[in-house]
Amino acid sequence: MRAWVYRKSGQPSQVLKLEQDYSFSNVSHLPIKIRVKSAALNPVGYKAIKEIPSIVTHKPAVPEQDFAGIVEECSSDSGFKPGDEVFGMNSATEQIKNGIGCMAEFTHTNSAVLVKKPANLSFAEAASIPLAGLTAYTVLIKQGGIKAGSRVLVNGSSGGVGVMAVQIAKAVGAYVVATCSEQSASLVKGLGADETVDYRQSDLLGSLTQKYGSETSRFDLVFDAIGVHSLYKASPGFVKSTGSFLTISAPADTIGTTVKTFFQMGSSLFQPKWLGGTSVPFKMCWLEAEKEHDSLVRMAKWLEEGTIKPVIDSEYSFEDVPKAYERILSGRAKGKVVVNVQ
Ligand SMILES: NC(=O)c1ccc[n+]([C@@H]2O[C@H](COP(=O)([O-])OP(=O)(O)OC[C@H]3O[C@@H](n4cnc5c(N)ncnc54)[C@H](OP(=O)(O)O)[C@@H]3O)[C@@H](O)[C@H]2O)c1
Repeated sequence: MRAWVYRKSGQPSQVLKLEQDYSFSNVSHLPIKIRVKSAALNPVGYKAIKEIPSIVTHKPAVPEQDFAGIVEECSSDSGFKPGDEVFGMNSATEQIKNGIGCMAEFTHTNSAVLVKKPANLSFAEAASIPLAGLTAYTVLIKQGGIKAGSRVLVNGSSGGVGVMAVQIAKAVGAYVVATCSEQSASLVKGLGADETVDYRQSDLLGSLTQKYGSETSRFDLVFDAIGVHSLYKASPGFVKSTGSFLTISAPADTIGTTVKTFFQMGSSLFQPKWLGGTSVPFKMCWLEAEKEHDSLVRMAKWLEEGTIKPVIDSEYSFEDVPKAYERILSGRAKGKVVVNVQ
């Protein structure tokens, strides 16, 4: 099959090659073969290509995890049949252990993170959902416990995860304040955010404290999709005493920066206040997709009903995968970058 493959670590533009006759070496344990129609990019995809050494991950590897497509073959007990239109994710474990991704004509999976595609979504729209949508869903609802009336600050609301976080928080009835640049404010308001705050203003932290520092306007939860240490340190100024700060990220450049930011944030929790410590509970959250089949089912229902909608920044042809990586690597995508495979 045709597949984008990397055989060593490096910049996607240098190491990713379109191979004409590639096959995965170890798929016998994965009972469902999918003809990929569309695949979406995520920052973890380029971080894996650039940063993770071969000693840790299988190479050669096909990148990316989010796909929508048609079941080509499956076992009789898989819950699917050939011809079903589906969307879902390759697991991170399969990606790391066996190099199985979805930027290819076919991919292989099990039914843990696979559901039928709602008929009202295109394949590109469906592919844009799983990793970002499930991350937002599990962090806000399962880990953050938000509910109707919760006050939520979404930091980084115009990115792939942020656009889902705003919509999911609104779907459960939360009040949502969302940080984004001025250029993204209309998009984010259109997704339901009650207020937007320009993160590029000169005194962002001071203005958050001034605007949301009173007892009635403080937040129950900060969902940080960017990984801003200074936002966490300032959070006692605008988070309730019962509130918390959940982060999924660090600035999306290198694995090293990610670890450093998480370490800084975590260590602020254990420092005494007079040494710059922070009292707001802090948690780093990771998506464990294999446990989230029920969440994907719920999201598919919301998508079908129109409660939430996909947000696509840009679509590329299969031949233009390097251009798709250029776009996501810019850090400026508004919503998801999607590749139409066939
Ligand atoms: N822990 C997990 O399980 C998990 C899961 C998914 C994602 N992640 C991580 O979460 C991060 C975000 O992922 P993503 O898919 O949303 O990335 P993305 O789509 O590439 O994010 C790009 C967006 O971020 C906005 N942005 C950049 N800097 C900002 C800032 N300082 N404040 C507010 N907005 C800012 C940009 O808006 P402007 O252009 O307007 O600046 C742009 O719209 C990545 O680091 C990713 O690796 C972690």
